[in-house]
Amino acid sequence: MPYTTADYIRTLKPYVPGKPIEETQREFRLKKVIKLASNENPLGPSPKALKAIQKAQKELHRYPDSAAFHLKSAIARHEQVAANQIVLGNGSNEVIELLIRSLCVPGDAILTSKTAFIAYKISAQIQGVATVETSTLDSGETGEGNEANPLRFDLAEMLRAIQANSRIRLVFIPNPNNPTGSYIPTSELRSFIQEVKRIRGDQIQVVLDCAYQEFVTASDLKTPILLLKEFPGNVVILRTFSKVYGLAGLRVGYGIAHTELIGILEKVRMPFNLNSLALCAAEAALTDKAFVKRSVQLNKEGMKFWEKTLTDLAIPYYPSQGNFLLVDTRVGLGKSGSEVFESCLKRGVIFRPVANYGLPDALRISIGTMVENRLAAKVLENLSDTFRRKH
Ligand SMILES: Cc1ncc(COP(=O)(O)O)c(C=O)c1O
Repeated sequence: MPYTTADYIRTLKPYVPGKPIEETQREFRLKKVIKLASNENPLGPSPKALKAIQKAQKELHRYPDSAAFHLKSAIARHEQVAANQIVLGNGSNEVIELLIRSLCVPGDAILTSKTAFIAYKISAQIQGVATVETSTLDSGETGEGNEANPLRFDLAEMLRAIQANSRIRLVFIPNPNNPTGSYIPTSELRSFIQEVKRIRGDQIQVVLDCAYQEFVTASDLKTPILLLKEFPGNVVILRTFSKVYGLAGLRVGYGIAHTELIGILEKVRMPFNLNSLALCAAEAALTDKAFVKRSVQLNKEGMKFWEKTLTDLAIPYYPSQGNFLLVDTRVGLGKSGSEVFESCLKRGVIFRPVANYGLPDALRISIGTMVENRLAAKVLENLSDTFRRKH
């Protein structure tokens, strides 16, 4: 059928999600499959959220509260901001889309790094907005922690891009980034935003996507709210309930910004973009401190386990501040990320290939429960023996 559509829609490469468990079971006739592919919470949903959902079921014949009074008030208390500084999205993905739709016109551009979370680029393209991508800081120098991650962003190049292109309206910085696990320390971000403001005043917004903030252990990465308070006209913060609160399936995220910008986003968003179960579950999850603590603790333990396992297997990995880590399959196993992904899939373990990030020789592992981590590591170990024997 000759449907007419814009070139940027025709050429769009859609987002590729992690392979679902059921699909893998069907395809490979497997009873048990472990999914470490979507940076989900391996402990399941927050128990307080589940309780709240049960209670809210009786009101499902009503439309949800489009103003989301209760959830916004709870987030405002939690983040120490005003409720009118918050916009809610059907996942933080929707807030990304809202920002681009509200602040850019076709022909404008967003700026991010080559290996940044891919949703920014896709959302921009859907709206006829270009993406300027800067390189990563592959200096070849090895350092400690984050400094050892060659995939961290090159902020100096980003500033040069802003100088050179007056159509850039939004800068997306996932901090820490998915899938590389790298981050930008707060002090470097502060200098960066200062420079952005000097170059373009309030005409440009730096979006700090802090989806994994709760998992951060680095002492030089502080709460992003500090930067919003310092640069209220230039900073937008994104947060999500999909990770530490275990509510990825409900789709709840939010943005925090200046009240004027939030006013614009509120006008643009569709009414009832969050369903009533999501609203009350997220509100309850925010109070579930014990669950957050357990999730963070498990992630720490899992991260340590994977770092040790990968070191023992001589598979290099990139230091990560998230609930996942990226491994170099080419150096470690002599195979591409997709080849290792396929081999593991047949053995009942789903990881995440990242060739669409320009990283064909890497594979992302999400941290699971310790049982899942051990089983998945065994599969990788067996595979590594098989690959090495063939050499
Ligand atoms: C950096 C980053 N931002 C945003 C998201 C999307 O989160 P949500 O489920 O809230 O749409 C993800 C999901 O993996 C992510 O990695």
